[in-house]
Amino acid sequence: EARDAGIEEIFFVTGRGKTVLLDHFDQSFELEQILKERGSENNLTLVKNVMSKPGQISSTRQQKPLGLGHAVWCARHFVANDPFAVLLADDLILSKPGCLKQMMDVYNKTGGNIVASEEVLPEHTNRYGILDVVEDDGVLVKAKGLVEKPEPDKAPSNLCIIGRYLLQPEVFDHLGKQEQGAGGEIQLTDALAKTVKKIPFHGLRFEGTRFDCGSKLGF
Ligand code: G1P
Repeated sequence: EARDAGIEEIFFVTGRGKTVLLDHFDQSFELEQILKERGSENNLTLVKNVMSKPGQISSTRQQKPLGLGHAVWCARHFVANDPFAVLLADDLILSKPGCLKQMMDVYNKTGGNIVASEEVLPEHTNRYGILDVVEDDGVLVKAKGLVEKPEPDKAPSNLCIIGRYLLQPEVFDHLGKQEQGAGGEIQLTDALAKTVKKIPFHGLRFEGTRFDCGSKLGF
């Protein structure tokens, strides 16, 4: 999905015991050998084409689970001063073009910060970051604020943040303060909420189907 959106450099923030994740994106000699022996040229080309170029994939470990905002902050040296995307891998999105590509197309017109967005049941607002909406054309939503996991009676809308973000590096100034939010965690939503007065914030109702792989049913 990131590749589809034109992204070439990818940084994984991972944790102990998850080395298989990076192995997956490395060269697979055994697989290539077997495909060669079987004369499976098409699959061999496919495998070779998905390989990243040297230096395009790197990673760090979040040593303690201090929250999504902290995980993103762990990537600050890699991102430096450029706009960047965040993909939360537990939100699997099936769509063509990919969700991030859809967002990139909108970003080219709006700039600022953009998240993928979806309406959720009012009773589920306390599972998500929720947008405080000022403008809504049915596809693109402009937000004047964001709240992380509000209870239904306090939620400003039922439009939620799905795990795809296109962000400006200014968010690191706020993440660096390491302030705790909902659930005692350092929240990306809170850091983004502090930028909305300066940087336009949009939610895109993307086309596609999302599976929340953090829940058994979604998985
Ligand atoms: C995170 C974010 C939340 C967002 C959600 C999307 O929550 O903090 O704002 O709506 O991802 O999946 P988590 O699922 O880590 O609790």
